[in-house]
Amino acid sequence: MNLHTQPTFLWYCSVYAHKYSNQLRDTCKHFFSGKGIPPSHSDKLKVVKEYYSKYKPSVFVETGTYLGHMLHSVHSWFLQTHSIELDPIFHTRAVNLFSKFPSVIIHLGDSTTVLPKVIESINEPILFWLDAHYFGGVTAFGMEETPILKELQAIFQHPIKNHIILIDDARCFTGENGYPTPIDLTEFVAKYRPDLLCDIRRDVIRIVPKA
Ligand SMILES: C[S@@+](CC[C@H](N)C(=O)[O-])C[C@H]1O[C@@H](n2cnc3c(N)ncnc32)[C@H](O)[C@@H]1O
Repeated sequence: MNLHTQPTFLWYCSVYAHKYSNQLRDTCKHFFSGKGIPPSHSDKLKVVKEYYSKYKPSVFVETGTYLGHMLHSVHSWFLQTHSIELDPIFHTRAVNLFSKFPSVIIHLGDSTTVLPKVIESINEPILFWLDAHYFGGVTAFGMEETPILKELQAIFQHPIKNHIILIDDARCFTGENGYPTPIDLTEFVAKYRPDLLCDIRRDVIRIVPKA
């Protein structure tokens, strides 16, 4: 078999070329704007671990599966893990990767419509990792570049009121390309759920019960 003629090989090349060029561009942008080195995957993982250890939820819901890195790092902590991916190729790849873990369910579709259905039947606090957005290259572009406000609306309307919500890539929240600014987001949370606290640190937005 000649790997170089396989479409999957070309797909992997394009995904990884894009992933590393994105990381390099982000690191340079962050560094030269005086903010130092941007948080790495292991920094983000520490944030998820911190909230998992504090609240001990048994369900994890992620939007935006991509290569399954976060899912791979955290799924063993939870009894039930869901991840939602719009791109069919990333979805199929993740289904295969996690096929031997029955507690991991990968859903195909736009998180704006799939997330409300996934959480409908869950009756306990969930740790959310909201990370669905267009990420350049071959990643999916849904109805909007970021579905974040619709995702939050669905979570805020859920009967369980003490979910823990972590949103990745706070640096994207600039008021451009459909992203709210940090002030808009804080006001949005205060308007719909004044019982929740919104805190933004190290590239992660954290929305948790006040008390
Ligand atoms: C930044 S990556 C996710 C990284 C992953 N959560 C991790 O931590 O390893 C964003 C992913 O969201 C997907 N995506 C984009 N818009 C989406 C949407 N509306 N619903 C679901 N997935 C979406 C993209 O295809 C891409 O795979």
